[in-house]
Amino acid sequence: MDIESKKTAPIGVFDSGVGGLTVAREIAIQLPKENIVYFGDTARVPYGSKSKDTIIRFSEQIIRFLSTKHVKAIVIACNTASALALEAVRDKFEVPIIGVVVPGARAAVTTTERLKVGVIGTEATVKSGMYTKNIQKMNPEITVIEKACPLFVPLVEEGFREHHITAEAIDYYLKSMKNTGIDAMILGCTHYPLLRTQIQEYLGEKIKIVNPAYEAAMDLKQLLEHADMANTGEDLCSKYEFYVSDAAEKFRQFANSVMPFDVPRTNIVNIEEY
Ligand code: DGL
Repeated sequence: MDIESKKTAPIGVFDSGVGGLTVAREIAIQLPKENIVYFGDTARVPYGSKSKDTIIRFSEQIIRFLSTKHVKAIVIACNTASALALEAVRDKFEVPIIGVVVPGARAAVTTTERLKVGVIGTEATVKSGMYTKNIQKMNPEITVIEKACPLFVPLVEEGFREHHITAEAIDYYLKSMKNTGIDAMILGCTHYPLLRTQIQEYLGEKIKIVNPAYEAAMDLKQLLEHADMANTGEDLCSKYEFYVSDAAEKFRQFANSVMPFDVPRTNIVNIEEY
């Protein structure tokens, strides 16, 4: 690819489902000139209860699919895949790939004053301990308390954001975190920012919510500028394409409630072919 086509080439963004839209939205806001190809693995969600080998295999298939769209960089908009597969796929593919765990850890390190951070995520992310490792690499004095909240993903995917069952799940999972003295809480799963208002209300204003999406979009910006790949063209009409492995219409409706623009179409991909 020559340098000019590289600049206008899209960014590949993927997740197990709708959660990565919270990262795509942040990229759309911070990098409005960039084109995006999004893939949501709606046929195989959730990733959070799967093994490392499976998550690596799924991530490789998705990266092969996104490569057919000639993406210039990929953002793994999924904490689970970032925690378990980022290293493996970086070794295997040439396209630059960034995840959300390191940016999220960095954001928490600059947010906490009491040096006590909470992390909520999927079972796989919490089991990997990647947030604790990364935070303590940046500041060994920080205590990290991690907690898996496996019901949050299906509740979000089912559109139960405002439902009392979600309020009960938040109480069930976060009760033990509330009085531990943490002053920063990482939403360590890209589905959770869709419950941000409810989580913030439950935890109270003294605990600051950290959404890794913002920092991840900043990292992407830096990467593109550094490699002279940022889209600097005058054409402000960026293109977004959405692909899923199942239930395209349900995804389209969801995407319309998250993205800052109209999503007219979602396409189905047989991801097992890649
Ligand atoms: N949204 C993903 C994450 O950030 C995965 C959720 C899931 O599929 O379990 O971890």
